[in-house]
Amino acid sequence: MNEGGNVDGPRIAVEGLTKRYGGVTAVQDVSFTAEPGRVTGFLGPNGAGKTTTLRALMGLVKPTSGRTTIGDVPFPRIPSPATVVGAQLEASFHPGRTARDHLRTLAPLAGVREARCDEVLRMVGLETAASRRVGGFSLGMRQRLGLATALLGDPQALVLDEPANGLDPAGITWMRSFVRAFAERGGTVLLSSHLLGEVEQTVDDVVVIAAGRIRHASPLAEMRALAAPEVEVRSPDAQGLAALAARWEGSRAGSDGSVHILGATAAAVGAAAHAAGLELHGLTERGESLERLFLRLTEERAPLEGTEAAA
Ligand SMILES: Nc1ncnc2c1ncn2[C@@H]1O[C@H](COP(=O)(O)OP(=O)(O)OP(=O)(O)O)[C@@H](O)[C@H]1O
Ligand SMILES: [Mg+2]
Repeated sequence: MNEGGNVDGPRIAVEGLTKRYGGVTAVQDVSFTAEPGRVTGFLGPNGAGKTTTLRALMGLVKPTSGRTTIGDVPFPRIPSPATVVGAQLEASFHPGRTARDHLRTLAPLAGVREARCDEVLRMVGLETAASRRVGGFSLGMRQRLGLATALLGDPQALVLDEPANGLDPAGITWMRSFVRAFAERGGTVLLSSHLLGEVEQTVDDVVVIAAGRIRHASPLAEMRALAAPEVEVRSPDAQGLAALAARWEGSRAGSDGSVHILGATAAAVGAAAHAAGLELHGLTERGESLERLFLRLTEERAPLEGTEAAA
């Protein structure tokens, strides 16, 4: 995208995507969209099917059934694809090439002039490493070079597989502001992560996948609203506390002798403790953390109540 100028990013759509490898179903009937002007987080644990889906979007995986489109067009039919979508997937770089030479070999494919190579290196903060061999790059530097590669054709959409992986805290902050600025100018960003906490401040929309199936898709704020109330309880009577917690299904031990009861209010737990004659030293309503909700969404077989699995 032109730096400074606004663009109309394409809508990214995955429709009923299923991919089987022999007996392994990597993804099963996966559907979701990533909208222009927004950052969409594609979240799920290891082996969930994130990379398979992103590779299918870029025409690198042939679907068993279903289809994927970028701006309503399947990737292989996009004219000048480098100007429409840039992807950072598991990159393989020739270790003996310098960063600049890596980009130079790709520039003709992307249909850009050589000067663009130094531009994108500057955009990802690699200008001082331009003449260094990629074989000596750290993981974070490789991630930046992967992003530089994605940016070569000045695309209006970015598909990034685990872009925060290997980045230090400063790198994560930088990546966050980069994709936010990209989306704020109208671009479409779809990025994957296995950690919600890592992208919580970056994404507008979330798509949660586990075991090859979509578990949840909504704006992040709507996902937050699914967080169940949680009460932290303390008591000097460990046995009595365990008996109290056993009355609710979703309870777990805290690290410090406390017990967290999911789906309960302080009033209900306090009343039950009072009736049982249990001495309490703490009773605090906390609300489930987003990270725990994410875990619950990826662990449960059925979507949670109020969760709209993308059709
Ligand atoms: N080429 C392949 N051949 C066989 N099985 C595959 C292939 N690619 C992926 N799979 C399987 O499909 C499932 C999904 O894999 P995928 O790489 O898409 O997950 P992921 O969400 O990207 O995981 P991670 O967070 O570990 O990168 C896994 O069970 C994986 O073993
Ligand atoms: Mg992956």
